[in-house]
Amino acid sequence: MVARGIGAAVALAFAGTAAALPLRPITQAPPPGFTGGFGEPSCVACHVGNAINAFDGHIRIEGLPERYAPGVEYLLTVVLEADGTAVAGFQISARYTDGDRRGWNAGALQPVDARSQVTDSASVSYLHQNAAGSVAFGGFGSSWSLIWTAPDTGDRVTINVAGNSGNADNSPLGDLVFTTERTIDASSTMPLALTRDDRQAGPP
Ligand code: HEC
Repeated sequence: MVARGIGAAVALAFAGTAAALPLRPITQAPPPGFTGGFGEPSCVACHVGNAINAFDGHIRIEGLPERYAPGVEYLLTVVLEADGTAVAGFQISARYTDGDRRGWNAGALQPVDARSQVTDSASVSYLHQNAAGSVAFGGFGSSWSLIWTAPDTGDRVTINVAGNSGNADNSPLGDLVFTTERTIDASSTMPLALTRDDRQAGPP
């Protein structure tokens, strides 16, 4: 495993700006707008010292279909894998890729358990870890599940996620940040799930 420390110069540079940072524990909620998508910065804006997507770690989104069915709920799992993860966090968004609503919220994100919550900004909902969700699994990473309800519009959607593998030193130093992006179109056919009326109709 590669050492994941930070240079003394970086630590000193950070010490000079620490007083300007917010006092509330960020472990419990990264500030909204740091997924790395749509021109946003990612967690490295504060978690400085290491490159993004380095040290053989990664973040991925499981459960996303190749194409989504409008209005359907998908159970997604964000998986962060990085050696030496002591605490961890993430932030995910789903936005329209293009058109008049480019960059606006596409569908809805909701937690499925006590490990995550939603913070809304003006036009985008961000789902992210909370204090319970910052607990990592066995030193190699963490994961968080959520439900994404696909939009009714059928327009193309881009999902961004940024994750942070922390070393549990209660600072933004010596941590590893990973980002990924997926863009999906709606399916041209309707969802396979039958409606109540379909099921009652019986054979033709
Ligand atoms: C505006 C600056 C800032 C941004 C942006 C930021 N953080 Fe942090 N983060 C901090 C600070 C300061 C701490 C240390 C104090 C604390 O734990 O609250 C911290 C600590 C953490 C920790 C605990 C790290 C450790 O080793 O103890 C996690 C996990 C975390 N942040 C996740 C995230 C994620 C995920 C993002 C991006 C989606 C993010 N943060 C973006 C400032 C930031």
